[in-house]
Amino acid sequence: MPAEQVVDQARRSLHAVARTPGVPKPDPLLVADGVRRSFGGVNAVDVDHLEVQKHVITALIGPNGAGKTTFFNLMTGFDRPDTGSWVFDGTPLGGVAASRVAKAGMVRTFQLTKALARMTVLENMRLGARDQPGENLFTALVKPLWAPREREITDKAMALLERFKLDAKKDDFAGSLSGGQRKLLEMARALMSDPTLVMLDEPMAGVNPALTQSLLGHITDLRDTGTTVLFVEHDMHMVRHISDWVVVMAQGQVVAEGPPGEVMADQAVIDAYLGAHHDTDLGDDALLDEGGVIDAEAEAEAEAEADTEEKKP
Ligand SMILES: Nc1ncnc2c1ncn2[C@@H]1O[C@H](COP(=O)(O)OP(=O)(O)OP(=O)(O)O)[C@@H](O)[C@H]1O
Ligand SMILES: [Mg+2]
Repeated sequence: MPAEQVVDQARRSLHAVARTPGVPKPDPLLVADGVRRSFGGVNAVDVDHLEVQKHVITALIGPNGAGKTTFFNLMTGFDRPDTGSWVFDGTPLGGVAASRVAKAGMVRTFQLTKALARMTVLENMRLGARDQPGENLFTALVKPLWAPREREITDKAMALLERFKLDAKKDDFAGSLSGGQRKLLEMARALMSDPTLVMLDEPMAGVNPALTQSLLGHITDLRDTGTTVLFVEHDMHMVRHISDWVVVMAQGQVVAEGPPGEVMADQAVIDAYLGAHHDTDLGDDALLDEGGVIDAEAEAEAEAEADTEEKKP
């Protein structure tokens, strides 16, 4: 079946899914059960059951401290849960190290971009390759064994850099890129391993408005070419604009899920969310194209970028 049709079918099959937290999906790619992680008495993540539908874009939203990033960390092997299990694409991945999770096809990007500042853009991309024989001692010593594979990796990296319009920057240090370009680089690097599921932690944070549209386009392209997307985002315009399904977390738990329009009109969700986001209008999408909002966004992004700079070690 053509990718387009697969996506269409996956999205349409969600219409019949009940709007209850933890509801089963018609074709789940990731299924988590009883996943809990606490930090000094705080239940950062306390998810009874969650299923992520294959071939669609799912947004994970919730106030600051809801446990979204911790959930990503757990699923991708960057942190260990106190209890719980999860199955990705039919394979149990609980307790599996991050590198093996990536090999299984689940990759994530970070809220604060992890692009290595003192490596070039191309070097960063090459790090994302699934297996680099050059790193194995034996093959490293026998150049004919790895040279073709190295070339293949470089070709793939260049093709992705072109797709993300970063090819002209391939020899620049990642540290010299703008916040938005670093987000693009992280997304491009994640694709080096041909993932089945891409998890994006706040892809829009710190992104200049000029790049916003292209980032949105890249994310929908991912879905439309067969990659499942799960993303965390506070920008409700973006969530409403591109997600097929929305999961709401609060205090570690999944408290609501459903199509974006319905979830964002849900009073309980608005209450849970507005505790932390008084300025977020969950119900209005029309503002997306209005100049005033873009200016406000630009300001917020400039702040976010300054904030990110401060947090750097
Ligand atoms: N390494 C850690 N040590 C101690 N507490 C932590 C740690 N990581 C997360 N927490 C706590 O766990 C809770 C969930 O944090 P998390 O970063 O997952 O939230 P989040 O939903 O991603 O929030 P935000 O929207 O602000 O990014 C918070 O109370 C946070 O302070
Ligand atoms: Mg977070």
